[in-house]
Amino acid sequence: MSGNRTFTMIKPDAVEKNYIGAILEKINAAGFKIVAMKYTRLSKADAGEFYAVHKERPFYSDLVDYMSDGPIVAAILEKDNAVADFRELIGATNPEEAAEGTIRKLYAESISANAVHGSDSDENAQIEGNFFFSQLERH
Ligand code: CMP
Repeated sequence: MSGNRTFTMIKPDAVEKNYIGAILEKINAAGFKIVAMKYTRLSKADAGEFYAVHKERPFYSDLVDYMSDGPIVAAILEKDNAVADFRELIGATNPEEAAEGTIRKLYAESISANAVHGSDSDENAQIEGNFFFSQLERH
């Protein structure tokens, strides 16, 4: 059965361009409830740990530099079928391939500065949410 939570970050490019409000509005309009949210900034070490799964990829060091380059918004979102529905809402990783109306099509610049992150599985949604909001685990 698919879970009802996913994790997202509004990335430094979108925060810099003042898209936080517009993106949160799209998220709410699509039926997601925000159950935890934080405006914060990742150190290089944090970003390296968060994206450790991509360590061997050629883009890893650029990704870590980029994600620690400015503030982000991290949030846990709730909705039935959250992971898949959120990935549909944000569109393809590369904004050039993202469908019309998706968050990345509307607000992303490039494959690295792609406005938002969305978890790719229920398991990763939980791991990524815990990375920022470990206190939720105690409830
Ligand atoms: P995200 O969903 O946050 O997960 C990994 C990120 O790596 C991805 O979004 C992209 O922003 C970034 N990235 C940079 N270059 C690439 C690439 N060539 N292929 C996939 N992801 C990339």
